[in-house]
Amino acid sequence: MERMPDGRSFYITTPIYYPSDVPHIGHGYTTVAVDTLARWHRQAGDDTWMLTGTDEHGQKMLRTATANGATPQEWVDRLVTESWFPVLRTLDIANDDFIRTTQERHERNVQNFLQAVYDRGYIYAGEYEALYCVGCEEFKPESEILDGTVPFEGLKVCAIHSKPLEMLHEKNYFFKLSEFQDDLLKLYADRPDFVQPVSAMNEVTQFVKQGLKDLSISRSTFDWGIKVPWDDSHVVYVWFDALLNYATAVGYGEDEENFARRWPATHIVGKDILRFHAVIWPAMLMAAGIEVPRGVFAHGWLLVGGEKMSKSKLTGIAPSEIIDVFGSDAFRYYFMSAIAFGHDGSFSWEDLAARYQAELANGFGNLASRTTAMIERYFEGIIPPEGTITDGDRKIQEIVRDAAANADAAIDRLAIDEAVAAIWTIVDALNGYITENEPWALAKDDAQRERLGTVLYTAAEGLRALAVLMSPVIPKACETLWIALGAAETLGRLRDQPIRDAGTWGQLKPGSSVNGLAPLFPRVESTID
Ligand code: ME8
Ligand code: MG
Repeated sequence: MERMPDGRSFYITTPIYYPSDVPHIGHGYTTVAVDTLARWHRQAGDDTWMLTGTDEHGQKMLRTATANGATPQEWVDRLVTESWFPVLRTLDIANDDFIRTTQERHERNVQNFLQAVYDRGYIYAGEYEALYCVGCEEFKPESEILDGTVPFEGLKVCAIHSKPLEMLHEKNYFFKLSEFQDDLLKLYADRPDFVQPVSAMNEVTQFVKQGLKDLSISRSTFDWGIKVPWDDSHVVYVWFDALLNYATAVGYGEDEENFARRWPATHIVGKDILRFHAVIWPAMLMAAGIEVPRGVFAHGWLLVGGEKMSKSKLTGIAPSEIIDVFGSDAFRYYFMSAIAFGHDGSFSWEDLAARYQAELANGFGNLASRTTAMIERYFEGIIPPEGTITDGDRKIQEIVRDAAANADAAIDRLAIDEAVAAIWTIVDALNGYITENEPWALAKDDAQRERLGTVLYTAAEGLRALAVLMSPVIPKACETLWIALGAAETLGRLRDQPIRDAGTWGQLKPGSSVNGLAPLFPRVESTID
């Protein structure tokens, strides 16, 4: 495996999700985005590692377990095996690792980290009294505390969850977050793309400029967590524990060689948890003397009916609801292409169904099936050689070359939707090319045999590039297309095709045979009124 241009490996992470929620399309969105970026880099030959996982400690988990008559460990084991592992298969995710914060490799090294930061003088004991939101697992800042309305009149409620806050008074250990204000501001100034998109960077900078308070990082009123190594009457605050997954999963504390190989990571998160990743996490690392992440990208919210989709508000949609009807490729394609990565995006069944039909079935699928069908019909399934090239043919070659380069540049900026749009210029150009060149008319004239071959070679070679370039997004359809093009026999496995060479023209071998292709995106019986 090669290193990235800067000599580093490409290590990318999703948030680790709370398994107490049933996985919904919001989680699926983040995970597919990370998987798409990881697949791209893997296929580019970069030394790639994709991590996802679950965040299993904390009071919320303890309460739901108790409410369900289970121990917290039984409860999380059940949720993770019954819901969270299967959803990765449903979404066709090729993660390299899955970390659970209840694993020993994690717990042990969270303790190592905490001890190291304690020894360096960044942790102290103090008294704490503040309003806590169990939904957020966070002591709330002034700005997120509201006066409750019916049925919570007279109480203080969380601005995000609209549920009453709890006044907690405890002896706690504190992390000296306030000491890192200047270093964080310097980091943001020195590395303007440390936080992306720009709107997220602005939010974080404003937040830190207002001043940072020290952070309570232990709890003593419940015990579902990792014990503080020097005081076992305390467990580590769930966010401090959770953020460390990104380090413990790649060997922090016990496999320094692997840690050096993988770290630093690129973190993809929803904007709801931006501050934890862009403020607290780099400060924790600075306190331990560890390099800060490569970057933090905060994507927007999926909106359903104009509101942030969430299970607690009953707008939650399970990925399988979509995938059972449209398939995993359609799920992946839809969310990666229809929403500008970094912005909010509205999900609707109508939009999904319309794009499925127009873009996948009529656009990509139809291009693939009519091209292979014409090669079968007019050339007995043998890919014809390319004859004399016209300006129109050359134009296609240029579009393919530019699309590949533009898509790679977009992936580098984490602009997944822009990468798909760049690649899709090939689909649109080839459909136009076929309409214009009318191979069915050329086929009627023996004198046009060479021209017919050139047109169909051009279409097939364009499809070859499309299969390689789209495989990080829609791996199943691209694999099917690759086999149908007969490319597996002459060019080897799809996943071994270097994606940064995908735009180089003329890779498909004339003389190799094409196989019949069932529709890549079959018609879906509409169940939507
Ligand atoms: O916050 N739109 O876990 P979580 C887009 N355990 N993305 C959404 C979404 C929506 N409507 N709803 C959820 C936690 N997400 C912590 C993280 S990391 C060290 C610890 C996605 O289960 C999005 O990625 O609440 C968001 O950041 C994440 O799920 C929150 O997952
Ligand atoms: Mg949440």
